[in-house]
Amino acid sequence: MTDRTDIPLDLGTDPDPPEDTYWDIRHREQDDLASGGHISLDRAGNELFYGLRLGALLTLIGDLNSTIAPLFVLDAGCGKGHFARALARCGHRVDAFDASREAIERARAAAGGPRYTEARLDTWRSPWPYDVVLCVDVLFHVLDDAEWAAGLRNLASLVRVTGRLIVTDEDVRVPRPRGDYIVHRPTAAYRAELEPLGLRHTEFRPYGFRENEVGFHVFTRTR
Ligand SMILES: C[S@@+](CC[C@H](N)C(=O)[O-])C[C@H]1O[C@@H](n2cnc3c(N)ncnc32)[C@H](O)[C@@H]1O
Repeated sequence: MTDRTDIPLDLGTDPDPPEDTYWDIRHREQDDLASGGHISLDRAGNELFYGLRLGALLTLIGDLNSTIAPLFVLDAGCGKGHFARALARCGHRVDAFDASREAIERARAAAGGPRYTEARLDTWRSPWPYDVVLCVDVLFHVLDDAEWAAGLRNLASLVRVTGRLIVTDEDVRVPRPRGDYIVHRPTAAYRAELEPLGLRHTEFRPYGFRENEVGFHVFTRTR
């Protein structure tokens, strides 16, 4: 019998990705934590930032795990693969993708279990659904509303029934732009896209890290 992990994952590869995006440059110039973590934190601060969020993530998804039936996890917008590798170390089977070629090359070089592909939130395709689809600190960097909605809907389509989509954003009532590369969207906007697709908002867990107001929005597929 063919194991689904034997099937090559090249279906969502973007044939013509942009060169040297903001994220390519940031992933090339910043270290493995600052490039995907918080750019204004020092190394120790980012280690704490990643550690706290990994702990929260494992609390959120760990109860679905089993040593004989690992979870199939997708890390969408994985950056250099910090969370993807950590979840693979915990026994989960992880696919991961990012729009930045630089990030994917570095994630592949670090190896550690996950399978990496270069793709965008709205272009990734998979022949199977996932138990958990994770998208950490990506969606609020997608400034175009149509692209944001298409990416979110695509991620929702990849979650199996009773599985979870975990995305991160602030828990706000009105859009909150920050600088020129972040817009925090209202929780109601996420619900408006996801509820018609059968995903119910089941939890918001704030990062609880210093002044950061972002947290994990958990959506559970009910049908
Ligand atoms: C702040 S980093 C977070 C990386 C990773 N999730 C982490 O927490 O370490 C944002 C990432 O989103 C990726 N990204 C931005 N827009 C994207 C899109 N439309 N599709 C896929 N990845 C995207 C960037 O290339 C970058 O690696």
